[in-house]
Amino acid sequence: MKSLLLLSILVISCNAYAEPFKTADVLAGKALVDKNCVSCHAQSFGGDGSSIYTREYRKIKTSKGLVAQVRNCNTMIGLKWFEDEELNAASYLNKTYYKFTE
Ligand code: HEC
Repeated sequence: MKSLLLLSILVISCNAYAEPFKTADVLAGKALVDKNCVSCHAQSFGGDGSSIYTREYRKIKTSKGLVAQVRNCNTMIGLKWFEDEELNAASYLNKTYYKFTE
């Protein structure tokens, strides 16, 4: 019984480790990014613009850096997103492209 408890604690903490944006809403983030962010990236990088996230020399190396960049682009274009919207967008980008685990 005790080992079962230990095991479940381990599983729960590993889960937290595997997803840096645990409480974010990925679908809401996708809607925000599709609406506000993709067209400009597509103009500069071609296709659907997603190669900006997957290019070999991409700038973003950590989940914190990802949030910071989402904030920069958000401020640059004057969207005035709330912090939870920034986190939703970062979470979507992370799940789909960056796949940072912490
Ligand atoms: C007016 C054009 C424009 C808009 C709108 C825009 N971006 Fe960007 N974004 C850029 C450019 C240009 C870069 C590349 C900067 C560089 O390479 O130094 C970039 C880079 C990024 C990166 C980093 C890519 C990498 O190298 O890993 C992320 C993440 C990003 N943008 C997210 C967003 C989000 C989220 C939005 C919507 C809020 C957004 N961008 C809106 C122009 C834009």
